[in-house]
Amino acid sequence: MARRLHIPGLINVLEVTDPGEIRLLDGDSRLDRSLAPSGGVINRLRLARLRGAFVFDGEPLPALLGREAEGRESHHAELGRRLDEGAEAASWRQDTSFKTLLEGVAGQADIEALGPAAQGLLGRRFQDDYRADEATFAAARRLNDYPRVNALAAMRQRLSGQLRRDRQLLHERAQGDAMTLHATSVAVHNLVGALEAMRALVGTPGAASLPQAAVLGRCLSVPETLLRQVLVPLSTPCSPRRLVPGDLVLLRLAEGVRSSGDPGLAFMGDSWARCPARRFILALLADTWARAVAIRSGEGGR
Ligand code: HEM
Repeated sequence: MARRLHIPGLINVLEVTDPGEIRLLDGDSRLDRSLAPSGGVINRLRLARLRGAFVFDGEPLPALLGREAEGRESHHAELGRRLDEGAEAASWRQDTSFKTLLEGVAGQADIEALGPAAQGLLGRRFQDDYRADEATFAAARRLNDYPRVNALAAMRQRLSGQLRRDRQLLHERAQGDAMTLHATSVAVHNLVGALEAMRALVGTPGAASLPQAAVLGRCLSVPETLLRQVLVPLSTPCSPRRLVPGDLVLLRLAEGVRSSGDPGLAFMGDSWARCPARRFILALLADTWARAVAIRSGEGGR
């Protein structure tokens, strides 16, 4: 059900969790991904946090670009084709970190090993020599959490220079490439969330005989929230009150997927902003699961 928070001059937010409402609002071109300062004080603070974390060299990271951003559609379509080819060829099997992913999911390596291994594996889809370690993964986690931590913690991150150092480290390792930054700083957390859930599942009775779709349905980790900003006034059945420019609309994706079990929603498959990594991530997870199950049953799996 939609939830509306409206205190004039302070906060104007609409939150939706229902898959139908998520799709309806996402498809409405009067809303867009925009980090431009607008709306009440709390809306502006929220947007400033996002800019502080995810704008590099003056540009928002790829999954925060507006519909009409130059090159967005063609670059992401091209990336999708390339990642689909990687999925077809199971390109991750040649990656030096894949063994750690398998051992981590099978419970034969520390759970902490999963983060840097997944970050390195994703980074090397874009830069052959991408190097991930505990420090780069910790930096990615702090950066990704920054928009959501309380005001005091955020101020500490800024004043201590931690935020700047984290951004610098991730930017250097990504050699300044925005897509590498997105994969290794933001998207990686959904991959790690899924791998951790698989690790918890693989040791439970009957796990080995679960169908692949059931495993993915239970383990897939999706972004908590997708942010949209109202650009043009609009009335919608999703809101009791007319929405006006500067209002923020939060599409609560994780809750929508959890409560409805609607797998099509996890990567926003029918959206203008659909995730180009969908096939790659699903194939990587399916292969990792099958091999981790084989390792646990003593059949090797590599
Ligand atoms: C489990 C892993 C992942 C999940 C669940 C996921 C999910 C999503 C979702 C829901 C969106 C829509 C965002 C929005 O509309 O605001 C999105 C967009 C996007 N994702 Fe992913 N993603 C994952 C991994 C990745 C990876 C590894 C990459 C590689 C770089 C990637 C690249 C992108 C890009 C570029 C967009 C923006 C698409 C556009 O605007 O045209 N994603 N993703």
